[in-house]
Amino acid sequence: MPRPLLSKLQVGVYGPGEVAGYHMGAYMANPRCRVVAICGRDAERAEARLAAVGLSPAQVSIYTDYHRMLETADLDLVSLCVPNFLHASATIAAARAGKHVLIEKPICLRPEEIPEMLKAVREAGVRTVVAFRLRFSPHIARIKQWVDEGILGRIEYLESTYVLGVRSLGKPWIADQQATGDCLTVLGVHAMDLVRYLSQPGPAQDVVEVEAALARADRELPYASRGVVFCRLANGKLARVGVDAGGLRPFHLELNLQGSQGSVLEGKVYVEGRGGLELPEVVPGDPRAGRAEYQGLIDHFVDSVVERRESHCNLLDATNTHLAVFAASRAAEAGGRARVAFRP
Ligand SMILES: NC(=O)c1ccc[n+]([C@@H]2O[C@H](COP(=O)([O-])OP(=O)(O)OC[C@H]3O[C@@H](n4cnc5c(N)ncnc54)[C@H](OP(=O)(O)O)[C@@H]3O)[C@@H](O)[C@H]2O)c1
Repeated sequence: MPRPLLSKLQVGVYGPGEVAGYHMGAYMANPRCRVVAICGRDAERAEARLAAVGLSPAQVSIYTDYHRMLETADLDLVSLCVPNFLHASATIAAARAGKHVLIEKPICLRPEEIPEMLKAVREAGVRTVVAFRLRFSPHIARIKQWVDEGILGRIEYLESTYVLGVRSLGKPWIADQQATGDCLTVLGVHAMDLVRYLSQPGPAQDVVEVEAALARADRELPYASRGVVFCRLANGKLARVGVDAGGLRPFHLELNLQGSQGSVLEGKVYVEGRGGLELPEVVPGDPRAGRAEYQGLIDHFVDSVVERRESHCNLLDATNTHLAVFAASRAAEAGGRARVAFRP
């Protein structure tokens, strides 16, 4: 059970790496939060991360044991910023300790991990948000608003491709398949999430069937770096999800939507009989975009805790995105199609 809320929510951050800097910066800018603990395997590295965001060990306790932080740091919220393979066990531990959890993507690396995560969260009654930060980009938020208001009509077809050469990030764990998964778990989940989120007004639509092909295009990565996934959504509409994690390419997102009354194609909007619709100038991938996306994400998480309402991108919602990419990997291996087990 989460404890009654104090006037400021006490935040603990697990994993003192790059993304933790974004999380902490956003918590610090939210007047309802205070970062009180950080955990990493090495206290000096954790201290360096604190210094990088303008905090010190006098303000924030440093832990080198995650379970000890959960037991003793007097937290309301935990942000999970560790490598992918730790997300499932860290979510379960946080929920069992009664902490609300912000889970970096991917939520896990294997479908078998999902039921226990959901059970722990349900039994503890904690809130979760999965870090699909693109939902909070002003660019995507504007498109979602048009979808919600019916400005594009019924959405008939979507394409979303996420390109980022992961070797360029210089993370030791990213070229380790056991820690990372493949191009679909490390990047493809973002593209899959967007087609689900933008395919209808309101909550994201589920994917029910996929066909996929994966290629080991970058020989310096031990997993498939390029993938194409054709998706059938629960309402019968189609989507194509692409991912390219190879080489040293900078982040680039391609997003196209075709609706019965209008389309978003290559960053331009076309609506029959209507002009004046524009997308924000700052697109995902613009250096100015990251902070706004993380601020939106963290503010949304804090709101969901304080206002006691479930997030539109909670663990349950993210389940279908992950089951869809796991099914895609399975389908690619088998050279064909796979049904997506709906949601547990
Ligand atoms: N939502 C998004 O768009 C987005 C963007 C970037 C990253 N992410 C996700 O955020 C997570 C962290 O990414 P990052 O870019 O911050 O990575 P990072 O810079 O490598 O940071 C990860 C941190 O985890 C700690 N850690 C704890 N146990 C570890 C272990 N067994 N192996 C390696 N590191 C361990 C490391 O600190 P110590 O070595 O000091 O323990 C490290 O600083 C990943 O899951 C990634 O997929 C999401």
